[in-house]
Amino acid sequence: MMAPCTTIAEEILELKHERRAILLAHHYQDAEIQELADVIGDSLELSRKAREADGDVIAFCGVWFMAETAKVLNPSRIVIVPDKNASCSLVEACPVEPVREFKCRNPDHVIVSYINTSVEVKAESDILCTSRNAVKIVNSIPAEKPILFLPDRNLGNYVKRQTGRENMKIWQGACVVHETFPARRLLDAKAAFPTALVVAHPECPEAVLRHADFIGSTSAIIEYCAVSPAPEFIVMTESGINFSLERVAPGKKFHYVRNENCNCSECPYMRLNTLEKLRDALISLEPRVELSEEVIRRALVPIERMLAVR
Ligand code: 13P
Ligand code: SF4
Repeated sequence: MMAPCTTIAEEILELKHERRAILLAHHYQDAEIQELADVIGDSLELSRKAREADGDVIAFCGVWFMAETAKVLNPSRIVIVPDKNASCSLVEACPVEPVREFKCRNPDHVIVSYINTSVEVKAESDILCTSRNAVKIVNSIPAEKPILFLPDRNLGNYVKRQTGRENMKIWQGACVVHETFPARRLLDAKAAFPTALVVAHPECPEAVLRHADFIGSTSAIIEYCAVSPAPEFIVMTESGINFSLERVAPGKKFHYVRNENCNCSECPYMRLNTLEKLRDALISLEPRVELSEEVIRRALVPIERMLAVR
């Protein structure tokens, strides 16, 4: 029995212990969720942690495709997400049927899928990538092999520019958060904070990336801001990252640019997860990721190929 004045955070910590659960949180979660997490990370780091997680339950505070990846990597664990509707606009832009059709028509193409895809699309893919390793993954594919990169056009175009790869087709999906950061608002921020460095996630459009001093995944941005001698940054990604930025770089200043969609810089899918829903999920062990053995077996191949690339 909980004491009557127990806070939700205390309930979660107690339930986490009872359930033998590990709490993984992406950088875009509310600060109060990140506060309780055993591990906070980008999608690559969280996949690696999921693979080695002990205990019975992985409570994944992130979006559904990340939890599916955790289940594929550690299928004997119960994997829960606070809100089942925590999807991603990139997943929604890439249903599996047209990917299968493309494969039938273009059997020579290597399919490189961003981790922001459904498990069914992963199962049709040759190799996965995240924003942290996408350039390295594409460079690991022999130059003469044509590639289909999916589903993020901004990351795909960035990788194409970085690798100089011409034989690469790019799916036309986009992230609702990063795609809609307007370059003019970034230019306004640069005028307001002229000495600040610009750090950006590669899901941003080229019109934004061309002004960036550093481009990288969420964790790469945090690492860069921590070691950079600069005291001030304009951060072109989801503002949940501020939680770790303030921890690793106390005293530095971080400015955020609002996007056109919500006039904020928060992911509407990530922010569906709340402390209350996390507490309820730990009680009921629902919503739970359930995958067939067949899809786990097929999706594991491209994920393991990615994890093997160092
Ligand atoms: P990271 O791999 O940088 O965590 O990115 C995941 C994501 O969804 C970015 O929008
Ligand atoms: Fe998907 Fe964009 Fe949200 Fe990341 S920020 S989960 S890419 S919608």
